[in-house]
Amino acid sequence: MVFNIGLLGLGTVGTGTAEIILDNFGRNPLLKEINIKQAGVRSLDKTREVELSADVMTTDLEAIVTDPEIDIVVELLGGLEPARSLILMAIANGKHIVTANKAVIARYGDEIYSAANEAGVYVLLEAAVAGGIPVIKPLKQSLGVNRIQSVIGIINGTTNYILTKMAAEGSDFADVLAEAQQLGYAEADPSADVDGGDAADKISILASIAFGERVKREEISCEGIRQISATDINYAEDLGFVIKLLAIAKGGKGQPLQIRVHPTLVPKEHPLSNINDVYNAVLVEGEPLGQVMFFGPGAGKGATASAVVSDIVNIVGILKSSDRRTNLDPLLSCSHQHYANL
Ligand code: HSE
Repeated sequence: MVFNIGLLGLGTVGTGTAEIILDNFGRNPLLKEINIKQAGVRSLDKTREVELSADVMTTDLEAIVTDPEIDIVVELLGGLEPARSLILMAIANGKHIVTANKAVIARYGDEIYSAANEAGVYVLLEAAVAGGIPVIKPLKQSLGVNRIQSVIGIINGTTNYILTKMAAEGSDFADVLAEAQQLGYAEADPSADVDGGDAADKISILASIAFGERVKREEISCEGIRQISATDINYAEDLGFVIKLLAIAKGGKGQPLQIRVHPTLVPKEHPLSNINDVYNAVLVEGEPLGQVMFFGPGAGKGATASAVVSDIVNIVGILKSSDRRTNLDPLLSCSHQHYANL
């Protein structure tokens, strides 16, 4: 069987996604059943790292989301619009969605999941949080039997890269940021990284899944790393701490959820103190489980594309084994209730 996907965006992550699919990288046999039918880009003139035939490339993104032959739309545009509208249009046309777009899900998750439930399609978002680390699915499924007490993460690779380089090499903030941009870690507008907004988007998604509560993104208090100097880092070091940008969600046992993002003095013996460079980590504490930490590359082409393609393969697996309109896998799907009731 062949499952057609439509890619929206062929930037860093889109390129990595196409590479995994075209090269049949992994051992999963379903990779061979995925066909990139269309790839939507802003300009057809740009030279691309990945070779797709001319008839696959298009600038008409609406044609992709309405194409009756496309099964899964993979949204890798980033930003709020036109991403939100295209996702909703794709859902209205019966497409399953895979997205890496934390900004859209953090703000419009309710609207999107409500539309998806209505249409009987999946919206999967493993790549939206912590790059290549499988954290969304385990949090939803395996850890869902626990009462979660806290989710604490280093979930922005760019700022962790900057803080690590400033600490280890005394590098200048602006120089390391430029490096992170060149390596494909930073957002198109890197202020989303350095001011903490990207981490706030991600923790709002993790918290809504972990605590089963509706999280209002705009209520998350958020401070970035612009004010952190080499002197702060050196003083922290002398006192036995490292400075990390943490995203923190705490709650449970009837307590109101507290969610915030800010630079934090982390004791050197704490497991999050050793997460360096572009690596991310998410420390989950629950009852009766105790602590579990997810760790891995949090940004970049290959890592994020790995999460995107794993979601595509998950959907393909289900489409092959079930009637997609009546048999949505309740564990895999992120139900509307999950977002809206809370
Ligand atoms: N800009 C993001 C980061 C990309 O640095 O973590 C991955 O979401």
